[in-house]
Amino acid sequence: MAEQRNLIKQRNSDVVRAARLSVAPMMDWTDRHCRYLHRLLSRNALLYTEMVTSPALVRGGALHLLDFHAEEHPVALQLGGSDPKELAQAARLGADAGYDEINLNVGCPSDRVQSGTFGAILMKQPGLVAECVAAMQAVVNVPVTVKCRIGVDDQDATEVLPEFIARVAAAGCERFTIHARKAWLQGLSPKENRDIPPLDYDLVMQMKGLFPALHLSVNGGITSLEQAKAFHDAGMDGVMVGRAAYHQPWDILAGADALIFGADTAAPDPVEISLAMIPYIDAHLSTGGRLHQITRHMLGLFAGRPGARVWRRVLSEGASRKGAGPELIHESLAQMQAAQPV
Ligand SMILES: Cc1cc2nc3c(=O)[nH]c(=O)nc-3n(C[C@H](O)[C@H](O)[C@H](O)COP(=O)(O)O)c2cc1C
Repeated sequence: MAEQRNLIKQRNSDVVRAARLSVAPMMDWTDRHCRYLHRLLSRNALLYTEMVTSPALVRGGALHLLDFHAEEHPVALQLGGSDPKELAQAARLGADAGYDEINLNVGCPSDRVQSGTFGAILMKQPGLVAECVAAMQAVVNVPVTVKCRIGVDDQDATEVLPEFIARVAAAGCERFTIHARKAWLQGLSPKENRDIPPLDYDLVMQMKGLFPALHLSVNGGITSLEQAKAFHDAGMDGVMVGRAAYHQPWDILAGADALIFGADTAAPDPVEISLAMIPYIDAHLSTGGRLHQITRHMLGLFAGRPGARVWRRVLSEGASRKGAGPELIHESLAQMQAAQPV
């Protein structure tokens, strides 16, 4: 019993450490194949799943949504929902499946999500979020965390954000990731809601001053490891990167183990990473999967490097060819190299 408690404690402190740098949950992007690639680039960063809704798991029985590869740890499951009982059941399913953390989505503004009363609209109901967190935390022994916005619509973020954090923390949440902009629930698409409402990093950093004992991560508009490091230096506990990590995975993740986690390792080479994906691709194809389900996440691997466009083109065009297999990786590398000036 004591041994098991120690194991849980160790695992939970590992995930807190990993949260110094995380890759954001992104629907349709951070699926298991994407996370496997990201894990090859950084041993340490915390990876989040796409949002999985608690109704899909609990009422729909869609347990396949919980599948992940053992190599992905540390990996957090993001849940969407607003029914404390159902979220608790979903959290238990996630913890039983082996996730290192369960995260609740209080930031997603899409219509579908608003109609189910979850996501960003919950910024207006801190009491309900607190109930959800308490119910989830009561049934799992991994951390339950929250990803939120600074507010929604015409809320005064300087008032609602500290109130939200205080209430949800009182229910047992010790770790928050704050997307440093409001969500406007009417009139903006989800995509516009990631760009148009202005970023307010100062407000997020003030939260660290107000809640020094909580682990707070900042998210939104961060595009380099140097920027992430600057947030750590300014006192933030963690930094979450979304789009930049997806589009330029090498830039954000390959140097992270050394720069953010202090590991004594050189950044992996993107060519080696592309080759290291081949056994994974083979395994996926052998179970009836399609090549492009994996290679679509690899298109940005050489972003900003000579030959990046050739790599992208050959890989994206070739992946949907009938019978395409891992030799496409070799072909894309060869064409990329052939296109380089001598
Ligand atoms: C394609 C896409 C899908 C997203 N899906 C989710 C999601 O499922 N859950 C969530 O909390 N945020 C989601 N987000 C928001 C990101 O997690 C992140 O908060 C946002 O992109 C801002 O960070 P960035 O500027 O580093 O990209 C999504 C973003 C993108 C681009």
